[in-house]
Amino acid sequence: MTSTMRAMVITENGGPDVLLPREIPTPTRLGSEVLVRVLAAGVNPFDVEAREGRAGSCGSPELPAVLGCDFSGVVVESPYALHPLKPGHEVYGVASVPRSAGSYAEFVSVPALSVARKPGTLSHVEAAGVPLAALTAWGLVVDVAKAHEGQRILIHAGAGGVGHFAVQFAAYFGAHVVTTASARNASWLRQLGAAQVVDHTVGAFEDSVAPVDVALDLVGDTDTALRTVHLVRPGGTLVAVSAPPTSVLQDAADSAGVRLTGYAVAPDATCLAVIARLIDSGDVGVYVDDVYDLEDAADAHRTLARGHTRGKLVLKIADE
Ligand SMILES: NC(=O)c1ccc[n+]([C@@H]2O[C@H](COP(=O)([O-])OP(=O)(O)OC[C@H]3O[C@@H](n4cnc5c(N)ncnc54)[C@H](OP(=O)(O)O)[C@@H]3O)[C@@H](O)[C@H]2O)c1
Repeated sequence: MTSTMRAMVITENGGPDVLLPREIPTPTRLGSEVLVRVLAAGVNPFDVEAREGRAGSCGSPELPAVLGCDFSGVVVESPYALHPLKPGHEVYGVASVPRSAGSYAEFVSVPALSVARKPGTLSHVEAAGVPLAALTAWGLVVDVAKAHEGQRILIHAGAGGVGHFAVQFAAYFGAHVVTTASARNASWLRQLGAAQVVDHTVGAFEDSVAPVDVALDLVGDTDTALRTVHLVRPGGTLVAVSAPPTSVLQDAADSAGVRLTGYAVAPDATCLAVIARLIDSGDVGVYVDDVYDLEDAADAHRTLARGHTRGKLVLKIADE
C-alpha cells in the first residue's frame, strides 16, 4: 500500500466538471472498519445530488470530498485477526458518504457491517453496480411491500438501477409485476419477470394499469406519485422513494384511503450476503449499461443525470 492514492475529488458543489482527479492520502482504518482496495465503484443518483450539494436529508458531504457509495474490491486490513472478512477476500458494499470518504478512489475504509463477500459469479465491475440499488430494491419489495404470490405491484422506472432489481425481487417472490419504462426496455423487463410493461412515453400510464396493492415511485417528478394514488386499492401502499412525500400527495393518499410512506436505504451486510446468494444462484442479475475510467467520472454523472440509464453505470478503478 502506498501513502497516497488516486481519487476523484470535489472541492466545491456544482456541475460534473467539479469532479477532479487528485492524489490524496490513503485512508486509515479505524475501529471496526475494513480497509478495502477498490477495483470498481458504482454510480448512483445520490452521488449526483451530493456533488450538486442538494442531498437533502441524506446530507451532503463536507468539502473537499470523495463521492461514491458503491464499491467492489479486495480487503486489505480487517478489524482483528479472527474477523470473518480477511485480507484478500473479495467484497462489495456501501461506503459511509456523507459521513466519510467515498468509493471514487483506490482505497476506502468502511464499517464492517456495510461489507459482504462479493457474488463469486460477478466481476468487480458487475458487483460494484449492485449494493445501493439492490439494497434499496430489497428494502422496498421485501421489507415494505412484503411481496408475495397474488400481490399486484406497480414499479415506476423499472429499467433503472433500483428498478431492475425491484422487478426481479418482486417476481422472485411471486408478485404480479407491472412496471413503467420506455418501449426499448420492454422485452428486457419481461425477461426479468415483469408481467406488464407500460410505455411511459406514450399516453397516460394510469389508463393502462389495473388497481395494484403496492406502488413504488422511483421517478420522483412532480406528478408521477400523484397520478399513481388512484391506481392503488384502498388500504394499499404507495412508496415515494425519490423524494419525501409532499402535503398535497399526503392529502390525496388520505382521501383515497392509501397508506403513503417515504423510504431511506441503510447499508446492511446481511442483506448484501442474501443478495449475493440470489445472484450466484442465477435468480437475480445486474445489468451494467456502461463502464467509465475513474478519471471519467464526470462523463458518467452526465449520462446518469439524463435519466435513461438501463441498470447501472460503473467506474473502473483498477484491473481485476
Ligand atoms: N430513498 C432511498 O433510499 C433511495 C435509494 C436509492 C435511490 N433512490 C432514488 O430512486 C430513484 C431511482 O434511482 P435509480 O438509481 O434507479 O435511478 P436511475 O438508474 O437513474 O433511473 C433511470 C431509469 O429511470 C427511467 N425513467 C426515467 N423517467 C421515467 C418515467 N417518467 N417513467 C418511468 N421510468 C422512467 C428510465 O427508463 P427509460 O429510459 O425506459 O425511460 C431509466 O432506466 C432516484 O430518484 C434515486 O434518487 C432513493
